[in-house]
Amino acid sequence: MFHLVVCVSGGGTNLQHIIDRIADGTLAGVSISRVISNNPGAFALERAKKAGIEAACVSPREFETRDAFYMALVDCVKEAAPDLVVLAGFLVAIPPEMIRAFPNRIINIHPSLIPSFCGKGYYGIHVHERVLGRGVKVTGATVHFVDEGMDSGPIILQKAVEIQEGDTPEVLQRRVMEQAEWKILPEAIRLIAAGRVRVEGNVTHILPDGTQGMA
Ligand code: GRF
Repeated sequence: MFHLVVCVSGGGTNLQHIIDRIADGTLAGVSISRVISNNPGAFALERAKKAGIEAACVSPREFETRDAFYMALVDCVKEAAPDLVVLAGFLVAIPPEMIRAFPNRIINIHPSLIPSFCGKGYYGIHVHERVLGRGVKVTGATVHFVDEGMDSGPIILQKAVEIQEGDTPEVLQRRVMEQAEWKILPEAIRLIAAGRVRVEGNVTHILPDGTQGMA
């Protein structure tokens, strides 16, 4: 069994699509061992509980210092002994000790075509506001491995989404989720679980079906 820990902060629609792909057999041999949120009010925690998945909250408000919060977060992840950590709308900067504990075993979904519209301040709806403000005609989503930078690790999958006349940030966010995020995040997990993703420097290679190659 290939075990996941999924880290969330908000509505959990990306988590839900992972749950649904496991249920429909697309992600055969994959299971979610634990869902962790920094936000006690995250609806994603309700989605986990409804699916019978252990849901934990590690809130920074419960700790005296940021470092104490980070230590508790890393411990909560480690305790679940994941093969892969999935950041699905997780609005916490991952501490270096977690990166070191899970080298090329943490992935993130970002709602743009990295390296465009990413980095400090680019998260959630703000990404789509800036995309529309710049007037680009194509946007999309990216799944990448997490390194010590922000949105800078090796790119695994990307999917483009067209911008339409009259789009608002909310309408565009929904289209990017529906047409890109909810498809490429489960697919990236499937490929990694199958050992078909090889990382060479800052580049990933997706190996043909039937090969093993996880670095
Ligand atoms: C999505 O827009 C995702 O791209 C970004 O945060 C949002 C998470 O949404 N990382 P949800 O919690 O998965 O619904």
